[in-house]
Amino acid sequence: MDDKRFITNKELITDDGDVSLRPTTFDEYIGQEKVKANLKVYVAASKARGEALDHVLLYGPPGLGKTTLAHIIASELGVEIKVTSGPGIERAANLASLLTNMQERDVLFLDEIHRLNHSIEEVLYPAMEDFALDISTGKGAGATSLRLNLNKFTLIGATTRAGMLTGPLRDRFGVIARLEPYSTDDLVRIVKRSSRLLKISVEDDAARELASRSRGTPRIANRLLKRVRDFAQVYNDGVIGLEITKKALNDMEIDPLGLDYNDMKLLTALVEKFDGGPTGLDTLAAAINEDAGTIEDVIEPYLIQLGFIARTPRGRIALKAAFNHLNVMPSKKAVEQLSFFAPERQ
Ligand code: ADE
Repeated sequence: MDDKRFITNKELITDDGDVSLRPTTFDEYIGQEKVKANLKVYVAASKARGEALDHVLLYGPPGLGKTTLAHIIASELGVEIKVTSGPGIERAANLASLLTNMQERDVLFLDEIHRLNHSIEEVLYPAMEDFALDISTGKGAGATSLRLNLNKFTLIGATTRAGMLTGPLRDRFGVIARLEPYSTDDLVRIVKRSSRLLKISVEDDAARELASRSRGTPRIANRLLKRVRDFAQVYNDGVIGLEITKKALNDMEIDPLGLDYNDMKLLTALVEKFDGGPTGLDTLAAAINEDAGTIEDVIEPYLIQLGFIARTPRGRIALKAAFNHLNVMPSKKAVEQLSFFAPERQ
C-alpha cells in the first residue's frame, strides 16, 4: 500500500520520539482507572468470543492518551492497527481503500474523527454497521449500486470534540469512553516510570513538583521531564532534585500550579476585564485573540479541574480560587455572581 495517509505502527514509533515512553499494555498504563477497567472487560469478552471488538470512541482533552490506548487495545486484542486521521482522508475513495485492506478483527484508528468530511463520513455508516461498502456506479437512469462486504473490523475514533460528531456517527460506537485530566498522584507515577525508561535519576519531591505543574496531562509531564533533565545536566550532576526542577520550571514560566502563558491570559481576562463573568465563549475568544475551540479543548479542562472557572448557561465565570490565585479582590458584583452561579464554591 503506497498511501501516505496510511501510517503503520512501526512508522509511528520512529516518527514520534515520545513513543518509547508510551505504555504498551493495560497493566503498564497508569491512570484512567475506570475507562481502563471497562475496556479490559470488553477486550477480554470479544477475544473469548473470537469476534471483532465493538467500535470505540475515545474523547477528551489532548495529551491524555487516546492514541496510546488505541494501540494498547489493538495489541491486547492481538490484531494489527492502521492509523489515520479525519483531515488525512481527503476523498471517500481513500477511506474505501483503507477499509477494504483491513483484515478480520483488525483495528482502524481514526484520530480527530470530528474533522472527517461529512460526505466521507457517510461511507463509514454501512462500514461500521454492516461491514459493507456501498459503491454506486453510473449516472442518471443507468445508476446502480453494489454492496461490497468487508472483513469485520473495529473502528477506534478519537476526538477532543465529542459534541461536534453527528448523531448518526456517535450512535454507531458501542463503547464511548471519556478521558479525564490525571491526578497529581498518577502523574508522579508516570514521571517515575518515564525517568526509569530514560535512565534519569529523579528525586521524589522533584517528581511531585513536575507532576503538579503538568496540567493533568502525561504528555506535558514527559515533555517537562526532558527539559528539566537538560537543566540538571547543564547546571549540576544530572540528578533531578527539587531545586533544579523549580528553577527549570520557573525559567520556563510555568507557574506552581502548571499554568502557562495561555492559561494566565484567559484567567486574567475573565477576572480583570470581565469582572469574573459570566462571559460567552466567543467574547472571551475575541478578547484574548484565541480560537474558541482551543479554549474549550486545550485551555479550559484544566482550569475547570482546578476549580478556577466554571461553564454556566450564561457563559464562563471565574470562581473564588481564580481570584485568589491572581491576588485580586472580587468586586461586589462578582461576589453576587458567584453566589448565584456557584453557591457551593464560596
Ligand atoms: N506515558 C504517557 N502516558 C502514560 C500513562 N497513562 N501511563 C504510563 N505511562 C505513560
